[in-house]
Amino acid sequence: MQAQRAALPIATGKDALIEAIRENDVSILVGETGSGKTTQVPQYLLESGIAGKGMIAVTQPRKVAATSLAARVAAEQNVSVGSLVGYSVRFDEASSDETRIKYVTDGMLVRELLGDPLLSRYSVVIVDEAHERTLRTDLLVTNLKKIQRKRNAPSDAKGKGAAAKLNPLKVIVMSATLDAEKFSRFFDGAQIMYVKGRQHPVKIYHTAVGQPDYVDAAMRTFWQIHTDQPPGDVLIFLPGQEDIEGLERSLQLYMDRLPKETPSIVVCPMYAALPPGQQAAIFKPAPPGFRKCILATNIAETSITIPGIKYVIDTGKCKEKRYIARDTGTGFDTLLTRDITKSSAAQRAGRAGREGPGHCFRLYTEEAFDAMEASAEPEIRRCSLTSSMLQLRCLNQDLEDVDFMDKPDREAIGAALKTLYLLGALDNKRNLTKLGRDMAAFPLEPPLARAVVASREFGCTLEVLDVVAVLSASSKLFFDSTDEREAAADARRKFRHRSGDHLTVLNVVRAYQEIAAAEKKSGRKEWCRKQFLNERCLAEAMDIRNQLREVCERMQIDWKASCGEDEQPVLKCLVRGLVQHAAYLQPDGSYKQLMGPSIVKIHPSSSLCDKKAPVIIYDELVYTTHIYGRGVSAVLRSYIADVPVLNVKGA
Ligand code: CDP
Ligand code: MG
Repeated sequence: MQAQRAALPIATGKDALIEAIRENDVSILVGETGSGKTTQVPQYLLESGIAGKGMIAVTQPRKVAATSLAARVAAEQNVSVGSLVGYSVRFDEASSDETRIKYVTDGMLVRELLGDPLLSRYSVVIVDEAHERTLRTDLLVTNLKKIQRKRNAPSDAKGKGAAAKLNPLKVIVMSATLDAEKFSRFFDGAQIMYVKGRQHPVKIYHTAVGQPDYVDAAMRTFWQIHTDQPPGDVLIFLPGQEDIEGLERSLQLYMDRLPKETPSIVVCPMYAALPPGQQAAIFKPAPPGFRKCILATNIAETSITIPGIKYVIDTGKCKEKRYIARDTGTGFDTLLTRDITKSSAAQRAGRAGREGPGHCFRLYTEEAFDAMEASAEPEIRRCSLTSSMLQLRCLNQDLEDVDFMDKPDREAIGAALKTLYLLGALDNKRNLTKLGRDMAAFPLEPPLARAVVASREFGCTLEVLDVVAVLSASSKLFFDSTDEREAAADARRKFRHRSGDHLTVLNVVRAYQEIAAAEKKSGRKEWCRKQFLNERCLAEAMDIRNQLREVCERMQIDWKASCGEDEQPVLKCLVRGLVQHAAYLQPDGSYKQLMGPSIVKIHPSSSLCDKKAPVIIYDELVYTTHIYGRGVSAVLRSYIADVPVLNVKGA
């Protein structure tokens, strides 16, 4: 492993790099994926003493990247994860007093800012994958600039404030395809350094015609490579988890039908919600004679480097989060599959040429490539700002005045303000309320945080945490298996609560807990399989719940407070959080939003789908043939009238 480290492209310029970082407050480092930036730079800083006694934070936009990088670097340092090298991501942490290098999601570091606005525990913050321009990265970058002004000022200028006692903070911005000039300008002309990568030629093929069924096209292309081309692993880029799981199943089925002499394959999925235990497989070489086929989202573009790839199949698609703002504040998030950008296409192709000449099969035409946008729009221009706005208000900053690389949209700011006002987090002068500060302490979206805080008043924190934990898990609770839809519906009926989906979730959690107390892991799995429940979701929810209980303890909220069999208080809490997602029954059987213009139908997956409840709340809107509300509960009109903000105005 040490020989491997020394052979990385970045090792060549190690000394010059260390010197430049030592000299400058801000350094910008650009280098081809796989050159060793993310794994090596933090170790160089540690070994050269630049980090002093403070910690080194390395931010990643995605959880899986943070945890797998921590594992790799811990192995290189020959320590276990959580000691010298650790990680911290939402709902999961492995670190200790010994930890000096910490891989964190950008969101977690923003969260740390709330408790420690000068990031005093850190001497270096490495903002990695900066080109992705996530909302959290942008928030972080603007705050790092602010912190440097305080911590790095000459000591006589610092005055007697907290910053006077702290060491200067170093910032390193890293990426594979950074718009480096823009970052450099933002940091007052910071020095840009380039790592010379080793990129072998990649031959690119486009299709002659478009491929609307890109999953099927990917499968056909894979078999062609597998039967005609020399050994070498294949990396297939797909937009999301569902397509990955679908293709994984198809490949296995097809494999069974091929002639016996066909060489075997190992299929490895890789997406953001993949459990840590399954990540390791993609880095392991396939057994001799096998061909590895990795099915990944754009996480494999630059965040993680997978060895052994010779062939890339690029569907040309990705998922993009986009917030549709409305001045009523009832905007919503969408997650749509769309065409990738030219910059992504280049990165994807590049993955085939890391270790030798490679091939990239693009499942789109050359014209389609020409029509792609150059690079993606930063998230700050297209995502909901509610959660960030709340965090900034906790730091006594305002979205409108903050020095951002790109300014957020006025409409989106308006929507965020409205939502926070309705949740009671801001007053009508935009001042942060006590409630808002309490909400920000929870690593949850503001509506769910509001429900948890409300549970203190209604004495049902135990139950609300059960529900919120499941809603915050990264996978769905119920399987929608098309083969056994009837049996699945039957199983689900046992848990059904007449008030709807939230209390149905509560029933499931209660039943699961009884099983979990009585059975070992295998028994739990078996029970979930029989009930058509996703064990992974429940297991994750139990972890999340523990974390949320800890937050409650810190805030002196009694998480054991229970409403017992009368679950109505749980709904009252949810109404506090989801008040913007309330809708009233119309004479024609549809629902009209209380605070927005839309007509909403109850999603067919809901237990209330064929009921006619007069008032409902829902978790989210989904757009297909209609606008559907998903995750629905029936509530009383009075619960809505009791929401304090509405009450004042006499609504
Ligand atoms: O950040 P950058 O893309 O420049 O490279 P890196 O993530 O530091 O990866 C450097 C090398 O470490 C790659 O060539 C990988 O082969 C190896 N690596 C690995 O084997 N397993 C990991 N989990 C991460 C990196
Ligand atoms: Mg990297």
